[in-house]
Amino acid sequence: MEVRATDIIYVATFPRSGTTWTQEMVWLLLNDLDYAKAASLNLVDRYINVGISIWGLASRAKGAKILKFKEEDKRKYKQIITPGCELLAAASDPRFIKTHLPMCMLPPNLIETAKIVYVARDPRDVVVSLYHFYRLMPVPQFTGDFKTFWNMFVRDNVIRTPYFAHIKEAWELRNHPNMLFLFYEELKNDLSNTIKRTAKFFNKEYTDEQISVLCNHLNINNFRHNDSVSLNFLADVFIPGEEPFIRKGKVGGWRDYFDDEMTVECEQWMAKKLKETGIRFPVFSNDVTKK
Ligand code: A3P
Repeated sequence: MEVRATDIIYVATFPRSGTTWTQEMVWLLLNDLDYAKAASLNLVDRYINVGISIWGLASRAKGAKILKFKEEDKRKYKQIITPGCELLAAASDPRFIKTHLPMCMLPPNLIETAKIVYVARDPRDVVVSLYHFYRLMPVPQFTGDFKTFWNMFVRDNVIRTPYFAHIKEAWELRNHPNMLFLFYEELKNDLSNTIKRTAKFFNKEYTDEQISVLCNHLNINNFRHNDSVSLNFLADVFIPGEEPFIRKGKVGGWRDYFDDEMTVECEQWMAKKLKETGIRFPVFSNDVTKK
């Protein structure tokens, strides 16, 4: 993958860390808040997804539902089943790129060349969200219970793990001028200020009123009904009866899923990993688990 100075590389720590939310924020900030264009172009057409594409795997996996699609459906899903490297070569500048790959799997000159927005999220909320996502997706189509999923996640046996190694690589670059390191919890706590920080990172200026309109646009209650970001066009592919792609959007919802044994194991795991990596998660008053 050749990096261009005009690239905006968007890196999500892990799937389910607020990628989609941040993608929409970044795209609008860099496109003069053109809501009409954003509505007319699906987010999967506005960003190229680089890395392991679960959709790509799904399209080839034996027996997967997506294989049954007609030719016209394959065209409809082209953007999500074509390898990102092919789409990248053909894309014009500036390229908006989304990836779930860790920094070590991206070009070494990336940070010196392009702008990176990285989003991290409390792993307990990530694992719950990922559990629902892998139940919803035709691949890997996880069918077990949450405890089984947690045990696999914490032992790095889930696709995309290990979790902390991913964040650590970006965390170490957090003070680089080409890196904007955000937390999901920060967006939830003060979206307006996080938008301002992001705009500044891209040398963009907007009025308070424009930012207020953007906050409203990005609010989960509106976001979940926004067909341009919700992946509703994949309804035929998703496993019926599962929770949607844009789900609860809460901080601390993990408490409803973890029993005492998992909570203790997770506390020990997080304490060890945070000590080893030096990562510090912010704590805000919107955390529903805060006593
Ligand atoms: P939950 O499953 O906890 O609700 P990603 O885009 O990286 O896959 O992240 C998905 C997570 O972000 C999901 O978390 C989803 O609901 C949440 N999310 C998406 N849009 C959001 C928004 N506008 N506000 C808050 N959370 C949002």
